[in-house]
Amino acid sequence: MRIGILTGGGDCPGLNAVIRAVSRSSFIRGYEMVAVREGWRGLVEGKLAPLGPSDVSGILPRGGTILGTSRTNPYGVEGGLESLLNTFSEAGLDALVAIGGEDTLGVAAKLHAEHAFPVVGVPKTIDNDLSGTDYTFGFDTALSVATEAIDRLHTTAESHNRVMVVEVMGRHTGWIAAMSGIAGGADVILVPEEPETVESACERLVRRHEQGKDFSIVVVSEGYELLFASGERRLVGTKAAASDQFGHVRLGGVGQELAVEIEARTGYETRVTVLGHVQRGGTPTAHDRVLATRFGLKAATLVHERTFGRMAALQGNEIVDVALEEATRELKRVPQAILDAARALA
Ligand code: F6P
Repeated sequence: MRIGILTGGGDCPGLNAVIRAVSRSSFIRGYEMVAVREGWRGLVEGKLAPLGPSDVSGILPRGGTILGTSRTNPYGVEGGLESLLNTFSEAGLDALVAIGGEDTLGVAAKLHAEHAFPVVGVPKTIDNDLSGTDYTFGFDTALSVATEAIDRLHTTAESHNRVMVVEVMGRHTGWIAAMSGIAGGADVILVPEEPETVESACERLVRRHEQGKDFSIVVVSEGYELLFASGERRLVGTKAAASDQFGHVRLGGVGQELAVEIEARTGYETRVTVLGHVQRGGTPTAHDRVLATRFGLKAATLVHERTFGRMAALQGNEIVDVALEEATRELKRVPQAILDAARALA
């Protein structure tokens, strides 16, 4: 078989570990690998290159992706779909492994449903918001970075009697915020799934300070809409970048606006740290390397068996496969049990 492989969407720790696992297990089966450069753009624009054993050597601990990535949507480019299908058949490819989140795998699901396209998916995203899998790879690394940041920010919060607001990524779900907030012992955790008002969050901070704690840590997810008792809601972000053909709002900035509100309402000195792309960068944790490797091995097996339209997934401790359509139908939000745990000790 001749197998293409691509990575789409935001870069994510563990992408290279998947590429290595898919490639090595396919080489062992006597198959050939082809690098599809920069996500779906590679098939739309014909950016392909051979991928040999030496290309995937030594990449297990490396962050980013050796294939490059983009937010190109073939359905959003004129003639994109036709070019993609032509490139695929002219290159003599028998199968494609698409490593990505809801956007990249949404395209894979559509291609499979509408054109019986021979594709297998691998669930990637630091946001952990893909359905059908308990965890995506990359999430554990982002969670570890955010937790370490919260630990470090405690130092300044305590020393200066400040409120420290930490803004984390996660797009429209609060997985990173909820889990790092629990792990770091945050005092207030604000996520899209549980719309608490700014007034209520401030009341909790005041109560805590009245009980003798004169510092606090607030973790806010970038997708939390500032909500006021008046009913006003405010999602903080800017227009989608032209390069994002999936049309996402570029989130970011809620931490700063929240800090202004907290300081104005409580009188406590309030500072902000935005973790941004630090959460996505650098080497994957051991957990993510193992998960990415297991996903990669599963994806290679699915290709070998010609079981297309499926995505490797983690359920419990088992690696299984689920329909791409099921995985991309709706976002996986933080369940109530985790939201309750986040509230229990705050
Ligand atoms: O989906 C991963 C993610 O890091 C989100 O948490 C974030 O909103 C988005 O990507 C940022 O994307 P970009 O790097 O394109 O601005």
